[in-house]
Amino acid sequence: MKRSQINSLIRHAEEFFGEYRWRLPQWAYWEPATWKSRLDETAEIRTTMLGWDLTDFGSGDFFRRGLLLFTVRNGMLDRPDGKPYAEKIMIVRDNQETPWHFHWSKMEDIINRGGGTLVIELNQADRETEQLTDQPFQVEIDGMLRSCRAGERVELAPGESITLPPYLYHRFWAEGGTCLVGEVSKVNDDNTDNRFLEELGRFPSIEEDEAPYRLLVSDYGALA
Ligand SMILES: [Fe+2]
Repeated sequence: MKRSQINSLIRHAEEFFGEYRWRLPQWAYWEPATWKSRLDETAEIRTTMLGWDLTDFGSGDFFRRGLLLFTVRNGMLDRPDGKPYAEKIMIVRDNQETPWHFHWSKMEDIINRGGGTLVIELNQADRETEQLTDQPFQVEIDGMLRSCRAGERVELAPGESITLPPYLYHRFWAEGGTCLVGEVSKVNDDNTDNRFLEELGRFPSIEEDEAPYRLLVSDYGALA
């Protein structure tokens, strides 16, 4: 992705979060130079990959297949005494797909916090082959069990949420307007805990056609 496109998507996200009065931590609004001067204080933020995160999943078309996220809190899988939880806030646009994936470790609640309808398609993974199956399964929607057939679509209106256990494939997009989407989960590790059905890139390669407006989590490595 071009850095100029990433910059404009983050500017839009700051406005969008503002419309919903969703405020981010102070360091969300830092310029890149501030990160360089405050390395000692930000080790935990960088290690647990908190902050801006944006991907087109290698599609080359962010609006067809992509996601903008901000990780607010997180632990680490190899730190058993650390935080066992994570939280994200995301923006999902109309018909903008986050493609089929499951998590080996993470259990997550996906929450429609406002806007349009969040549509989530579900499919149980085979534990050995890790492919889609035709098995029925049950999911929890706001604490209530629902029986689903393979490939079932669940629609979440604002205020509704779903609990996704490990090995349950999911893909999602918005309909009827951009959605403000929350995620509350076990520890999140986007380097090792995403099993995409297709082989996909989780972090974008970036063409630096202008200076960064905000740093992405994938930019932290170049700081230290
Ligand atoms: Fe997921």
